[in-house]
Amino acid sequence: MMAGNWKMYKTPAETKAFFDKFVPLVASSSHCEIVICPSFVNLETAIAATSGTNVGIGAQNLYWAKEGAFTGEISGPMIKSTGASYVIVGHSERRQFFGETDATVLKRTIAALEAALTPIVCVGELLAERESGSTAAVLSRQFQDGIAGLTDEQFSKIIIAYEPVWAIGTGKVATPEMAADAHRMIRAEIQSKFGAAAQSTRILYGGSVKPDNIKGLMAQPEIDGGLVGGASLDPVSFASLVNF
Ligand code: 13P
Repeated sequence: MMAGNWKMYKTPAETKAFFDKFVPLVASSSHCEIVICPSFVNLETAIAATSGTNVGIGAQNLYWAKEGAFTGEISGPMIKSTGASYVIVGHSERRQFFGETDATVLKRTIAALEAALTPIVCVGELLAERESGSTAAVLSRQFQDGIAGLTDEQFSKIIIAYEPVWAIGTGKVATPEMAADAHRMIRAEIQSKFGAAAQSTRILYGGSVKPDNIKGLMAQPEIDGGLVGGASLDPVSFASLVNF
């Protein structure tokens, strides 16, 4: 899977302009699932622009209640009603700036599954955590508290993204070996809780993925795709990642 996370960028007009260029560039790509996650206000434009194509659309967050007095929040069924199929859950920017915790990641993941959305659940360590040698402990805690509470059936429907926080938007990509090591740690956690699902679960790498480093990352059998921020905003650059 090659997924783009547009974060808080683009208006509906810019969204339409992106897909006008992007859709033909990937029209014959069938080797990976292609997903773009724009902001909520662009979902309808994105769905209309990709209807009948091989490009899927997702949101970047959801609230766990189906509806209610939760000013400013958006639910899984609301996202589903736009025609979107995916939702990012627990992105590090949500954890850092908006109080997301492992416990709320689990609630949102379950809510996404209940709305028949495919959650892309993000984990990853901070720079200080990597430097203090606690990467494995952090990934384990995020897995145990944010993911392991799913049933086997629920777990079989999720995608995991490993995004080391120090590599996001910094231009500092994890080396392919560092990324693969972290993916192995996550797979070991999956193996101990969900058994054989460890082999079939897709784990994406995210953090400064660009056309000039995609080759090394995708050469790692542990890495099943990318979750791309900055380089997904430009149709030519994201198409080149998809078409790699
Ligand atoms: P960048 O590709 O801009 O580093 O962002 C990665 C990311 O956060 C994707 O979710």
